Parts: sequence; structure tokens; C-alpha cells
Amino acid sequence: MSKSEREVKPVRIIGTGSYLPERVLTNADLEKMVDTSDEWIRTRTGIRERRIAADGEATSDMATAAALRALEEAKLTAEDLDMIVVATVTPDMPFPATACFVQDRIGARKAFCFDLEAACSGFLYGVETARRFIECGAIRTALVIGAEKLSCVTDWADRSTCVLFGDGAGAAVLSAGNHGRGIIATMLGSDGGLTGLLNIPGGGSRFPATAQSIDRRLHFMKMTGNEVFKHAVRCMCDAGTRVLEQSGMTIDDVACVIPHQANMRIIRAIARRFGHHCMKKFYVNLERVGNMSAASVPVALDEAVREGVIKNGDVVLFIVFGGGFTWGAALMEWNNGK
Ligand code: ACO
Repeated sequence: MSKSEREVKPVRIIGTGSYLPERVLTNADLEKMVDTSDEWIRTRTGIRERRIAADGEATSDMATAAALRALEEAKLTAEDLDMIVVATVTPDMPFPATACFVQDRIGARKAFCFDLEAACSGFLYGVETARRFIECGAIRTALVIGAEKLSCVTDWADRSTCVLFGDGAGAAVLSAGNHGRGIIATMLGSDGGLTGLLNIPGGGSRFPATAQSIDRRLHFMKMTGNEVFKHAVRCMCDAGTRVLEQSGMTIDDVACVIPHQANMRIIRAIARRFGHHCMKKFYVNLERVGNMSAASVPVALDEAVREGVIKNGDVVLFIVFGGGFTWGAALMEWNNGK
């Protein structure tokens, strides 16, 4: 049956879940590790504390916990899943995919599984991929996870980056249904000309792991923060504006904005560009969890849903930006069918 013959129902998120490790690392703890201050970190970033995974706790462990919560919320079992995507820059291993470890742990026997790497934008790239698989009729139900153990790629001697990041995982179950409009509009973008501004140079085929690469600290995240800042504001504003225009809506039609949680100043700058009244629509949790890359958006989404900030019928705008550079936006009418 062709797509035109088949009725294409809206694709929506029917359940979310998240997991944060127990250990809290505060700004006061960081003051003892590098030359920084709580005041600098709070005023420059908005972050007060972040979570750090336990020794031996891997990305798939956090992803599994988030996945089980999302399935419970969706009232489905792992056996119902056709596809699992894990968006991460900190997989358990170069291969097999972290998604395969999650599959085994939750018992999603009929799912096909792969990882996706689009840095902090990864979760939204995963949602868009799942949406297209569902829309074309190839699958019915997908699990998309953003999970990161950034603490293992953070240079704890570099004050310009170590204050920013945290660990965690968030997950969403997607399927098609008759409730509401689901995903209304999306856009994804990339600029590979700017790979040098934000990366982990070591550990891949360019600079494989050697004693020398370790001495040169190539396995840690490198970032030209102020340049990233400018691009993040511009790209996230453009992406958000594009999806609103595509759907004939304005920011006034949006009930909640879930932005990538990199820096409070970035979020405020974006909100200002959308209009002074908009800041209250932006859901922010970075003061408690820092920047968790691909996990930031799904954790924020899950918290916003559980706190009742997002309700059925609300229009939600997602905007993301990360290494690559990659960026994107999605506009969704929230309706989990309950
Ligand atoms: N404590 C105290 N001083 C510090 C610290 C610190 N932790 N870090 C840097 N400084 C100093 C710098 O050395 C510099 O000192 P100098 O003026 O004497 O040279 C000064 O503070 C200002 O440094 P900047 O880098 O210009 O500070 P900025 O205001 O740009 O803030 C920050 C830095 C927070 C990193 C900001 O640029 C930022 O948030 N950038 C964007 C991050 C982001 O969006 N990442 C997105 C994706 S992340 C991913 O994909 C994994």
C-alpha cells in the first residue's frame, strides 16, 4: 500500500522517562578542583550543580533506567518496540551500539537498534528519524533515548569546560495515533565547516588512542566557548522561527519551549529575540543538571511533563544546538493519548 493510499496518522510522543545519577557535584565542589568560583559559574552559565555517574555506571545503564520509565508511562512493554535509537557522544563502546545494550537489558527482542551522533542535537535528530520510519509505515513504535556520561570526556583540569557538563538520560516512546496533531513541523541543520570549535579529537580514526594522545589530553572535550555561544543563539533562533513559519504559527501559539540546556545566557538571548514576554515559556532545568548534551532535551521534557508544565493540547517548541555544528527545531502538539 502506498503512503498516499494509507492514512498517515500524526506521530506523537506517548511516554517519557528520565534518569539522573545520585551523585551531586556542586559549584562549591568545583571550587576545590579548579580556579573558579560559584559566583563565576552561576553568573556566566546559570548552573549551580550537576549529576555525576557512579564509577562503573555506563551510558547504557542510565539509558535503560530512562527507557523503562518511558515505557511505563506509555503503558507499553519492551516487546512492543520496533526500533531503539540512542543519541549519544559517550557510547559504552565504539561498537556495539549502546542501543543494543539497552535492547538486551529491557528485552526488546523485535526492535532493530542503532546509535546516532549529532552531539547536543542528537535527541531531536532521533525523534525526526523515528517519526519518518513511523510515517512511512515501516514501524509502529520507536524508543528514542538521549543519554550521556559526559563526566568521562570532561577534562577536570580545564576550568573553561569542566563547570558546564553533567550526566543523565532521557527517553521518549513515539507512535502514530488519532489524538491531536503530534509532530507538526521540524527542521534540522548542520555546518561541518565549524567542527573545530567543539569536539573530542582523540579516540577515533584521526587520533587513535595512544600513550601520546592521552598525554596530549585529546580524549577530552575541547570548546571555543564564546564562538559556540554566538552560533548557538543564531542557529536556535533561526530553527525555531523556521518551524513556526512552516506551520503558520507564532511564539504566542506556543505553550512551552524546551531548549537545549547549555547556558542560561544563551536561553535568555533566544527568548529576547522571540519577544520580551517569552522567557516564562522556556522550561529550564540546567541550574540543577548542567549541560547533558543529547540527554538535556529529553530530561527537561520528562520533567516538564511530570510537573504538569506541559499538558495535552499544548503546542511545544523544541530547539537544539550542538557540536558539528548541528542544530534543529520541532513543533509538536502535545497529546499522549491519556
Ligand atoms: N571560572 C572562572 N573563570 C573562568 C572560567 C571558570 N570556570 N572559565 C573561563 N574563565 C575565564 C576565562 O579564562 C576568561 O578569562 P580572561 O578574560 O582573563 O581570559 C574569562 O573567564 C572569560 O572567558 P570566556 O570564555 O570569554 O567566557 P564566556 O562568557 O564566553 O563564558 C562559557 C564561557 C560559559 C563556556 C560560554 O562561552 C558558553 O556557554 N558557551 C556555549 C556553550 C555551548 O553552548 N555549548 C553547546 C553545545 S555543548 C556540546 O555540544 C557537548
